[in-house]
Amino acid sequence: MTSPDLYTAWRVHEKNGGYEGAEEACSISDLPENDVLIRVTHSSLNYKDALSASGNKGVTRSYPHTPGIDAAGEVVESRRGPAAGEQVIVTGYDLGMNTPGGFGQYIRVPADWCVPMPPGWDAGKAMVYGTAGLTAGLCVEKLLKMGAAAGQGRAVVTGASGSVGSVAVEILSKIGFEVAAVSGKVDQAEPLRQLGASEVVGREVLEPSKKPLLKPGFANAVDTVGGAPLAELLKQISPGGSVSCCGLAGGTQVETTVLPFILRGVNLLGVDSVEIPIAEKKGVWEKLAGQWACPGVEKTARVIGRRDLGDALKAFLKAESAGKIVLDHSL
Ligand SMILES: NC(=O)c1ccc[n+]([C@@H]2O[C@H](COP(=O)([O-])OP(=O)(O)OC[C@H]3O[C@@H](n4cnc5c(N)ncnc54)[C@H](OP(=O)(O)O)[C@@H]3O)[C@@H](O)[C@H]2O)c1
Repeated sequence: MTSPDLYTAWRVHEKNGGYEGAEEACSISDLPENDVLIRVTHSSLNYKDALSASGNKGVTRSYPHTPGIDAAGEVVESRRGPAAGEQVIVTGYDLGMNTPGGFGQYIRVPADWCVPMPPGWDAGKAMVYGTAGLTAGLCVEKLLKMGAAAGQGRAVVTGASGSVGSVAVEILSKIGFEVAAVSGKVDQAEPLRQLGASEVVGREVLEPSKKPLLKPGFANAVDTVGGAPLAELLKQISPGGSVSCCGLAGGTQVETTVLPFILRGVNLLGVDSVEIPIAEKKGVWEKLAGQWACPGVEKTARVIGRRDLGDALKAFLKAESAGKIVLDHSL
């Protein structure tokens, strides 16, 4: 396939002291010099995209900029790595941060950023999972490596209605864990049960308490929220249990004592989906396309076009977003 010179991207400009995104024509020749040119058909929406689109300089240093920290589509030109015509997935590294991302119809990236599309999948399906699904898979994988097992007691997922949380709920329940979902959205209780949560608990379970330890209520956890709720969560993990910590939706500052660690042997496991070796990403993608497939999340994913990006990203920042949102460039 040959590429046109121009393509459409949803680009963010710094304007009147604020940040505004809109569709505009871009030139392929302005994409960075890299190994692989990809025609992106799908991307997915992530909290980090909302930060990039709203001018967070920790994510994106300069504007105008095309966000989209993940992308899937067909290789159009390749100097190394995947061949033209192959379908690939790209997540993380610098994509959508300071490298033009998946909210544009084309990206040009290093060959080492590309994962082959799992057999039987297409770009739309891959982006139902996207970075969030990959992250949820990495969180579960870390728990399992630390010895977490179904039967030890309830596993809990915080920020359960979010993109990462919803996939984590479904994977854990699918592999036999009893899952408690913590969510601040009353209307998401039933959808979370449909994904396999055996119970849905309000955020008040992680309200600040002065006690350094609380009654152990959860054997293991996937935490997408961070901040003060994570400190409360650590107080409620059973002896020997583990918490995969991947997010900051509730803040970055975690004030904890050492007591959960030295009296209960609790493990706090950091999860990064961005800079890890591509082989690790590939391993989790293969599981997501196999035994960890999440038909519930797939069924409920919302598909939008570029013109809907502005509103959808604002909902992320207000914590009003639920489940997975896929960007389809053909809409
Ligand atoms: N480590 C990595 O590589 C990696 C990769 C992807 C994402 N992340 C991070 O993981 C987090 C979740 O990502 P996501 O895409 O799932 O975001 P999301 O869809 O916005 O979900 C976050 C969820 O957290 C809950 N929440 C939001 N604000 C909260 C607050 N102040 N206190 C308590 N709960 C709150 C909400 O769920 P409820 O309403 O259900 O409570 C919200 O839906 C983000 O911080 C993101 O940056 C990290």
